Amino acid sequence: MSVKLVTFLLLQAAAAFLAGVRSIPQPVNQLLGRQPRINGRIVGGHSINITQAPYQVSLANIHCGGSIISNQWILTAAHCIFGAQPNQIQVRLGSSENVGLNGQLLGIKKIVSHEKYNQTTYDYDFSLLELQEPIEFDETKQAVKLPKQGQEFKDGEMCYASGWGKTDNPLNFSGQLQQVQVPLIKQQECERLLYSLKVTDSMICAGYPQGGKNVCSGDSGGPLVSSDGLLVGVVSWTLIPCNMPNSAGVYGRVSTVREWIREHSGI
Ligand SMILES: *[C@@H]1O[C@H](CO)[C@@H](O)[C@H](O)[C@H]1NC(C)=O
Ligand SMILES: *[C@@H]1O[C@H](CO)[C@@H](O)[C@H](O)[C@H]1NC(C)=O
Ligand SMILES: *[C@@H]1O[C@H](CO)[C@@H](O)[C@H](O)[C@H]1NC(C)=O
Repeated sequence: MSVKLVTFLLLQAAAAFLAGVRSIPQPVNQLLGRQPRINGRIVGGHSINITQAPYQVSLANIHCGGSIISNQWILTAAHCIFGAQPNQIQVRLGSSENVGLNGQLLGIKKIVSHEKYNQTTYDYDFSLLELQEPIEFDETKQAVKLPKQGQEFKDGEMCYASGWGKTDNPLNFSGQLQQVQVPLIKQQECERLLYSLKVTDSMICAGYPQGGKNVCSGDSGGPLVSSDGLLVGVVSWTLIPCNMPNSAGVYGRVSTVREWIREHSGI
């Protein structure tokens, strides 16, 4: 496949436009045909209960995920939030299902997007959301542990990504939280798989060269967690179709922004 045929997917469902939130960067690189698409959900995963990933939240009205990092702060992807105001975002917590009045809905007081976020390359694809009121933790709502600044993870280490990314088969949409198990991939190997698209130091990849298991549209902003419970990544982008060979998932590498998180949230 030549690089000209590669299509690049931001993992936020384009339906966000319907909510009046202009939060998807426009196609910016015509050569690569980079464009947001509604396509698939977590592929090759399985349903889980929120009690198995109690740090997972849904930014319901902008079709993204996020992670609870303290009783007052959520970490998500900057491309989810781009152009949105705090009063346009609602966080759904403590629910396995992303529909109706399930779980608890909380408003946002403040958005802090990473100052180095680059809409062309998706470098530093991180935003912090401050909640209007503190979360009362229980078995469905818990903060995830953060890695140390600069902490390294082993290539091949198994991690867990989760989200409510939509299905491409509307007859089979359950709204039930999905999880997929994916190994970390070394930076150079990931760029090779992704037809030389740039994987920067603020990104980390996970997936399989043969495809089949991956995050997909609507999963953006959600967690990639190690087996010892550390938040390794924030879902950012992949190639489409999400399940094809070479379609590694690319995540914001949380260990590169640990100090930035502390500076802006005190966490
Ligand atoms: C999730 O687990 C909790 C606690 O075990 C249970 O009460 C709840 O019904 C489960 N929810 C779903 C959607 O399975
Ligand atoms: C984003 O990255 C591209 C490619 O490295 C660079 O040319 C551009 O200046 C960057 N944009 C911003 C706003 O930093
Ligand atoms: C619906 O999804 C389940 C699990 O994700 C899968 O096993 C099943 O084959 C799907 N059914 C159809 C008709 O696509």
